[in-house]
Amino acid sequence: MTRVANACGAINLSQGFPDFDPPPELLRAAERVAREGPHQYAVTWGAPKFRAALARKQSHFMGLPLDPETNFVVTCGSTEGMMVAMMTACNPGDKVIVFSPFYENYVADAVLSGAEPIYVPLHPPDFGFDEAELRRAFAQKPKALILCNPANPSGKVFTRDELLFIARLAEEHDTFVITDEVYEHIVYKPAEHVYFAALPGMFERTISCSSLSKTYSITGWRLGYVIAPPAVINEARKVHDFLTVGAAAPLQEAAVTALGFPDSYYRELQVAYTEKREVFLKFLDTAGLRYSRPAGAYYVMVDIAEFGWASDVAFCEWLAREVGVAAVPGSSFFREPVHNLIRFHFAKRQETLVAAGERLLKLRERVRAVTRQQANRSV
Ligand SMILES: Cc1ncc(COP(=O)(O)O)c(C=O)c1O
Repeated sequence: MTRVANACGAINLSQGFPDFDPPPELLRAAERVAREGPHQYAVTWGAPKFRAALARKQSHFMGLPLDPETNFVVTCGSTEGMMVAMMTACNPGDKVIVFSPFYENYVADAVLSGAEPIYVPLHPPDFGFDEAELRRAFAQKPKALILCNPANPSGKVFTRDELLFIARLAEEHDTFVITDEVYEHIVYKPAEHVYFAALPGMFERTISCSSLSKTYSITGWRLGYVIAPPAVINEARKVHDFLTVGAAAPLQEAAVTALGFPDSYYRELQVAYTEKREVFLKFLDTAGLRYSRPAGAYYVMVDIAEFGWASDVAFCEWLAREVGVAAVPGSSFFREPVHNLIRFHFAKRQETLVAAGERLLKLRERVRAVTRQQANRSV
């Protein structure tokens, strides 16, 4: 959809990346590192300074005493972290539970590691799971469950009770839980992010993946990490070494600055994203569009059923071309045949969101024009 957006000059609210700069302190650190180095390989599993700063920050937020020497692998984004986690936990033929809708990499990760996904639906509009369905999935003896929290594309933030239910099943069936928590700091009040690894007794079976991409608006720096108990990390380091050798040494050095930001940085991030969400959702309200209000991450799923298009893909192409706003067809995230949802993201500057919102106000009128044209043609 980014290619479609670029081809027709649409405002790109499809692929989730910011159109604003990272924090200026971080850019200054990158300038300094460009002059002073390091410019050669870092330690494969992460530069010591980066791991020390990351351990301090994550211990603080997760409420766990994490050891930079034994609990971390620094990866090329959470994308590599998830692949490392899957290849560490699973052997060919193993099964993994994937909630649907899902971030599209998870099924590819499962297939690449030879594992077979068991899909468990998250039911719109609130994207909760059915306990009996999840129990049935666990009865198939999965090696791992993948938990995206806060979730892309649904914006769901799992409650402590939901996580405790998953924890009980994971314990009962001796299953790993692989988390993707890249949106850990983008959560809207009153929702709160609960780290699965910090639930009672869960650290030993959790492989937590996350990254700096979203928290510091540096999706292109490709800095992520895996957190797990030492025995798991020992194996994960080997997988990581053969996949990528290591994340960019100069960027790890520069990012130490960001990992040292005070708590106020994370509070301001939350305020800034809450404002973006409000600006964009207000346009959706004014345009009379139905959507699921996201509790976390920076995506919103809009229901296009009322427009009567058979294909969400065709709708998104038309939307980019005729209305000038690009979204992602929801069917790319679902295992089930869901064709009535599309996903916008709102990690954009205020003026971009306003420009996109103003175009969306004309959506209904444009759809009516198309319907009239079709009716005239069939007459
Ligand atoms: C749920 C989720 N995980 C991972 C990623 C990619 O993260 P990274 O840049 O750390 O590889 C994204 C990016 O959109 C995402 O939405």
